[in-house]
Amino acid sequence: MLTVMPIYGTRPEAIKMAPIVAALEGSNSLNCVVTVTGQHRAMLDQVNDLFGITPAHDLNIIQQRQTLNSIMTKTIDGLDQLFRDARPDAVVVQGDTTTSTAAAIAAFYHGIPVVHVEAGLRSGDLFSPFPEEGNRKMTSQIASLHLAPTSISKANLRAENVTDEDIVVTGNTVIDALLETVAKNVPFTDPVLEQIANCGKRILLVTTHRRENQGQAMRGVGRALAKIAGSEPDLIIVLPIHKNPAVREAVLPQIEGQPNIIVIEPLSYGEFTRLLSISHVVLTDSGGVQEEAPSLGKPVLVMRDNTERPEAVTAGTVRLIGTDEGRIVHEVDRLLNNKEHFASMANAVNPYGDGRAAARTVAAIECLLGMGERIDDFIPG
Ligand code: UD1
Ligand code: UDP
Repeated sequence: MLTVMPIYGTRPEAIKMAPIVAALEGSNSLNCVVTVTGQHRAMLDQVNDLFGITPAHDLNIIQQRQTLNSIMTKTIDGLDQLFRDARPDAVVVQGDTTTSTAAAIAAFYHGIPVVHVEAGLRSGDLFSPFPEEGNRKMTSQIASLHLAPTSISKANLRAENVTDEDIVVTGNTVIDALLETVAKNVPFTDPVLEQIANCGKRILLVTTHRRENQGQAMRGVGRALAKIAGSEPDLIIVLPIHKNPAVREAVLPQIEGQPNIIVIEPLSYGEFTRLLSISHVVLTDSGGVQEEAPSLGKPVLVMRDNTERPEAVTAGTVRLIGTDEGRIVHEVDRLLNNKEHFASMANAVNPYGDGRAAARTVAAIECLLGMGERIDDFIPG
């Protein structure tokens, strides 16, 4: 049996890799050896626990207020040693984090084929998202197999001269994870959330963490939330706050003392998807949430000026609003108080997947390793 090593380090990679790990473990021809870098700790372990994944190797690289270069060098160093001891036949990396690019580089230098999941997303701005746009482009230079979630991401790769035969459109595995998890309708462990779920009030779900928004822009996001909370006393704003201290320092002082803003620790994926499913509007700068919320028919306001995920913007469920405080207040107000506008955005669309992306991913890897036929590209139904 050939060995395939998924390598990941952060919450979103774990969520998107979990369906692939399950599919690899179900394969008769491939041996799956999970390696984590530990770029995230609590937020990573939370996902692995939920999906029952026990990594075979854990580099445990996390540091408080870690730098991009420390993530890069510690990952490459740790994997360099690991690949000498336990050389896989292929590695699988996901997305655009520094873990994913560092793992791709470490594998490439060992002559190990790199499978890039969620390949080909491009914002067109090297500094937004930062460093993710650059990370993703670097990985595209050295991957052997590019698994694009949509035909737009495939076209981006073709425009950069990646050959057609090295690209397969699979859909995004986040939709596999979402559909499986949201169907479980898990109870909230925090009684406050269970109370909110049953009180009949509208929920504004907020997440923020983007590195380029930290500091001034994120303080503005906090002030905007305080203004919305003040003018909409019947609205409940729920903010599962990222573990990054830079995020907490920027947002929390701005929203102190607002009774209808509920700040909670990062939720388990089961609880988060349930909260998403009962929310009225979503305000976020997250990549994954931009992909999930449209599937559940939730209007999404994205606190960024551009996106590498244009599909749901085109479909009308996602709107890019930037980080200006006044604009955030205005756009949330419009969705809360203009029924036609809300209805025009609250459409369930599935441009990112059909829940079978992981099966396509494993079939594409088997083909790369000479164990199966090439599969057809995913086309949204
Ligand atoms: C990282 C990714 C980003 C991804 C995001 C998902 C990079 C450069 N950034 O950004 O692409 O969108 O994850 O959330 O790869 N921390 C903890 N515990 C945790 C997680 C984080 O304490 O479980 C704290 C640590 O102090 C850490 C800091 O948060 O130093 C920042 O984490 P880091 O992974 O460097 O950046 P993110 O903003 O999480
Ligand atoms: N998420 C979660 N718990 C939370 C907040 C988010 O499980 O409290 C999930 C969310 O459903 C999505 C992923 O985390 O799948 C997004 O992670 P994040 O926003 O940190 O990273 P990004 O997608 O922007 O890289």
